[in-house]
Amino acid sequence: MGFREQLDITRLPQHIAVIMDGNGRWAKNQGKIRHFGHESGVLSVKDIVEGCADIGVKYLTVYAFSTENWNRPVEEVNALMELLISTINQETATLTKNNVRLNAIGDISSLPEQCIHDLGEAMRKTADNTRCTLTLALSYSAKWELVTAAKKLAAQVAEGKLNIEDIDEHSFSAQLTTHDMPEPELMIRTSGEHRISNFLLWQMAYTEFYFTDTLWPDFRREDLFEAIVDFQKRERRFGKTSEQLN
Ligand code: FPP
Repeated sequence: MGFREQLDITRLPQHIAVIMDGNGRWAKNQGKIRHFGHESGVLSVKDIVEGCADIGVKYLTVYAFSTENWNRPVEEVNALMELLISTINQETATLTKNNVRLNAIGDISSLPEQCIHDLGEAMRKTADNTRCTLTLALSYSAKWELVTAAKKLAAQVAEGKLNIEDIDEHSFSAQLTTHDMPEPELMIRTSGEHRISNFLLWQMAYTEFYFTDTLWPDFRREDLFEAIVDFQKRERRFGKTSEQLN
């Protein structure tokens, strides 16, 4: 029996976050340049989005470009930005066909002009799609997000619009880039690395982590279903005892 058949469709994670890692190693293994790995990684993104939409996962957030990725060689950064622009433009129609909304989180203003423009257009065109929300984390880091949220709250306090006593988990979460989505129940990282790498630190306080040695360009929907089946075997206690849950 395949992993698709083993899924309990009534207990799907609503939100899955993915650290897509291993594109460079995948390309190197084949004697190709790193960019070949990124291009192939786009095919995995497409398959995973369709897999999520197919089974009913409502939110998928992928770490496409971190704040720290700006430190890569300028040729790789430029090639990644161009790949992002071409992918967004090529895939908007398919996203709409599959009723998927495109969203983006991160310091979007730091992206190249063309990227900001085309991303904005694609987000507008897909804004009314309801089956699944695909969020691209771009120029994103959780520390950037948390500092930005703290600044917004501090400004509201300085303007007399917010009392310090009213700052709590709820008002803090409301300032995050993910304020309109549930926290991820499952985080998948490919390529055998066991790190969070500055991704959704606040939102993943109680997320289940799934690590696989598979490199991102080899990761397909059957691997996604395997990760969800593994997730569904876990007991999520949220600080309680096992007996309390039963
Ligand atoms: C990590 O692999 C991957 C990235 C930093 C970029 C991810 C980008 C894509 C999958 C393509 C663009 C995505 C979209 C949504 C259009 P790595 O380069 O760190 O691999 P390595 O660790 O093997 O070197």
